[in-house]
Amino acid sequence: MTLDLRSVDDAAELARAAADIVVDVVTTKPSALVMAATGETPMGTYAELVRRRAEGRLDSSAMRVVQLDEYLGIGPDDPRSLYGWMHRSLVAPLGIGADRVIRFDSEGSDADRAARDYDREVESGGGIDLAILGIGVNGHLGFNEPPSDAGAPTRAVDLSPDTLTSNAAYWGGRTVPTQAITAGMSMILSARRILLLVSGPSKAEILDRLLRSEPDPSLPASQLTAHPDTVVLADRAARGA
Ligand code: F6R
Repeated sequence: MTLDLRSVDDAAELARAAADIVVDVVTTKPSALVMAATGETPMGTYAELVRRRAEGRLDSSAMRVVQLDEYLGIGPDDPRSLYGWMHRSLVAPLGIGADRVIRFDSEGSDADRAARDYDREVESGGGIDLAILGIGVNGHLGFNEPPSDAGAPTRAVDLSPDTLTSNAAYWGGRTVPTQAITAGMSMILSARRILLLVSGPSKAEILDRLLRSEPDPSLPASQLTAHPDTVVLADRAARGA
């Protein structure tokens, strides 16, 4: 299967096009469960969703959110917490209460149990309606680092050197945790719809590889080529155009 690549001009157009898809999903199913990546790429989309809600174009009163990944041993108030980032950028400004958020228990000592609890909560919540994802320069999705196959479960992972270097930029010199917990590839691929956002020149090389790849564990995002409803939104810089 080939990926449904939709080309946009720049990050602003990408945010609007992505928000259109999210609004469509939430309008069709107000209680949609949306998986929300952190990282820089989806921030424009989240800001656009917040704007649309303020303008009365998005009703998020029943929308639910599930986090994609988290560092281990980091509390929600730590500035490095991915949950905290998702909360500030999306959950709080959309007025989504804690009872409509699925998150990892990333502070406890039993990461395997946290992974099982998370999977169970997503499944009992009816599964993921839309996953909003970014891609790492090494092709990771969430913290499914290479190699990760389509069956990779929700689990604790050691972060790759590439990821540690990329993430260090976010935290202004603070130590980057070396372990994380991530929704597995199998959980991500179970989403009914997937939206992969790719923006900026640093993603040009991996996007080019992705668009030419068969499903291949050394490029985890390539597993999306076997998913029946994935849209890849890429701006001009990411397309190397
Ligand atoms: C974030 C995440 C990561 C990022 C990826 C791209 O929750 O899971 O996989 O989506 O590293 O990050 P940015 O968007 O900052 O380039």
